[in-house]
Parts: sequence; C-alpha cells; structure tokens
Amino acid sequence: MIDAAATDNLAVSAIADADIPAVVALWERCELTRPWNEPQADIARARGKSNSDILVGRSGNTIAATVMVGHDGHRGWVYYVAVDPDQYKKGYGRAIMTAAENWLRERGIEKLQLLVRADNTRVQAFYETLDYEEQERVIFAKWLDGRPMTP
Ligand SMILES: CC(C)(COP(=O)(O)OP(=O)(O)OC[C@H]1O[C@@H](n2cnc3c(N)ncnc32)[C@H](O)[C@@H]1OP(=O)(O)O)[C@@H](O)C(=O)NCCC(=O)NCCS
Repeated sequence: MIDAAATDNLAVSAIADADIPAVVALWERCELTRPWNEPQADIARARGKSNSDILVGRSGNTIAATVMVGHDGHRGWVYYVAVDPDQYKKGYGRAIMTAAENWLRERGIEKLQLLVRADNTRVQAFYETLDYEEQERVIFAKWLDGRPMTP
C-alpha cells in the first residue's frame, strides 16, 4: 500500500483501465512520448506486475501526476514522471516521486536510479531538490531487434 500521508493532497493509486487515455494524453502533453515507444504498449507491459507498475496521482477526479516505477531485482527505476502542466509547482511531482520511492522500499529495493535527457535541464533541478545526485556514468544501449540506435 502507498503511504497516503506521504503523498499529501494527491491521491495515489495503481493505474486502472479507465485511466489509460488520460495518462497517455498527459505524457504527450509533457512531451515524454517517443515514436519508438508506443505508450499503450509500455503501460500494458509495466502495469500491475510484481516488479513494476504505473502509479497515478489524482487531484479530485483529475489525473495530475504519473510515474512508471519498477525494479530489476537490484535497483529501482522510474520513467514517465509527469505532472499536468497546469498543476506544476504544487508539490505533485514530489508527491508522486515519494509514492514511487515508497513502492520500492516496500519491495526491499534500496536505491532508485533514473535517466534524464541531457537537454532536459529544468527537470534536473527538480530531482536535485528531491536529494537526487548526478552520478558519473556512461549509458550503453542496444535495440535487441537489431534496429539502429535511436537518439
Ligand atoms: C519535473 C516535474 C515532474 C515537476 O513537477 P512539479 O509538480 O512542478 O514539482 P513540485 O511542485 O513537486 O516541486 C518539487 C520541488 O522541485 C522544485 N522544482 C520543480 N520544478 C522545477 C524546475 N523546473 N526548476 C527548478 N526547481 C523545480 C520545486 O521548486 C520544489 O521545490 P521545493 O519543494 O523546495 O519548493 C514537472 O515539471 C513535469 O512533469 N515536467 C515535464 C515532464 C518531465 O520532464 N518529466 C521528467 C522526465 S525525466
């Protein structure tokens, strides 16, 4: 269960079927979708699994924040961290990240890592405020179907 007190006035729960269109619309509005990641397929793969889920934060009846959270048995990861642009700077980003951290803690995961595109400088300030620290690492990636690397 997610600690409701830690998420302030944002009611956080696992994504439900009826939430999917609004969640995809929010991700598109936040420019988090990429042509090579079909959001509905990403949701279907991650939701409701023992090691991953998509959490949605509601303000009233409106979905105001999302996070895809998961772990690989060693480290936790988040993707699709998004807040409705009309609701920035109300603490919802912090609240949905707290919910993701608690989700991982409940599963015994001790460290959360996340990737930020180098050109997304404003979000780096957000994570620094939440006590995340930049780590000196180089990321290697490969598409397993053999397609050329995407940006
Ligand atoms: C990044 C994002 C999730 C922040 O959401 P938010 O609800 O506005 O953040 P909060 O109100 O919870 O802010 C938490 C803290 O971060 C700080 N912060 C938030 N956005 C910031 C910014 N752009 N620059 C500097 N600090 C910022 C706030 O001032 C606040 O600090 P405080 O608690 O000391 O007052 C939101 O801007 C967003 O959805 N951006 C687009 C999607 C995106 O880039 N996602 C990340 C992909 S890696």
